[in-house]
Amino acid sequence: MNSNNGNGAARSQGEPMKILVLGATSGIAEATCRLWAARGASLFLVARNSEKLAAVAADLKVRGASYVDTAVADLDDTSSHPTLLTHAINSLTGMDVAYLAHGILGDQPRAEQDFVVAEQILHTNFVSVVSMLTWLANYCVQRHSGVLAVLSSVAGDRGRKSNYLYGASKAGLSAFLGGLRNRVDREGVTILNIKPGPVKTGMTSHMKGSEKFADVNVVAKAIVKAVDKRYDVLYVPFQWGPIMFVIQHIPERIFKKLNL
Ligand SMILES: NC(=O)c1ccc[n+]([C@@H]2O[C@H](COP(=O)([O-])OP(=O)(O)OC[C@H]3O[C@@H](n4cnc5c(N)ncnc54)[C@H](OP(=O)(O)O)[C@@H]3O)[C@@H](O)[C@H]2O)c1
Repeated sequence: MNSNNGNGAARSQGEPMKILVLGATSGIAEATCRLWAARGASLFLVARNSEKLAAVAADLKVRGASYVDTAVADLDDTSSHPTLLTHAINSLTGMDVAYLAHGILGDQPRAEQDFVVAEQILHTNFVSVVSMLTWLANYCVQRHSGVLAVLSSVAGDRGRKSNYLYGASKAGLSAFLGGLRNRVDREGVTILNIKPGPVKTGMTSHMKGSEKFADVNVVAKAIVKAVDKRYDVLYVPFQWGPIMFVIQHIPERIFKKLNL
């Protein structure tokens, strides 16, 4: 189910990969950055928690990153995105990869009762990511290069009663990524839609059975490979591809009765 877009290597060999990371304090992003740091990548890290961000940046330097710069920002503020991106790209002196990891699970029961809660989930996971991708895609198209790697979710493949607000935000994101890819692939720009199943991170630590969720380092390794190989879509761990294929094909008359 995972697919390669056939565009070849992510950048020319030799110099360090220049990577912009949005939501750099996320469990999945941090694990991915550790692997990039070990290869000597140049990293620009954005997160809203300054203390956590400083700790992540210091760790990545120790692990071998050739350059690390940071910016503290609440990514819900879409008006700040163009200035933030200009600053990041100037700091890195270019950009090969943008990795968009920020997101919230939200509170589904509260979101069912209060649209303000629902809107927050849609804003952080969908609207703010679309804003970033709009500016980033145009930057990459102008240069005919770049990988935009985005953390969506298997939850976006079919709405379920237990988390359909979160699922809807990721479904919208996945649809946006598909359309954006259809526009920019011919310009040499890769749009990588990463669809993890449940992963052991801060986002899921409160959930029943979370000890059985995927290891973040295994997920990170697959993401690094997918960026290198310029995949279009990555289901991770890989078994989520066939699982979601089956789930998507359950007839609605049966699906609506299930407790998922
Ligand atoms: N874990 C899973 O099972 C799973 C499965 C599928 C997809 N995903 C997706 O993978 C991505 C990373 O999740 P994770 O598992 O690594 O969870 P995580 O550790 O909770 O990371 C989420 C990150 O998003 C940041 N964030 C949230 N809202 C933000 C905002 N307005 N501005 C800036 N940063 C903001 C959080 O910052 P703070 O630390 O400041 O709150 C946190 O660093 C998310 O998009 C998530 O939806 C996760």
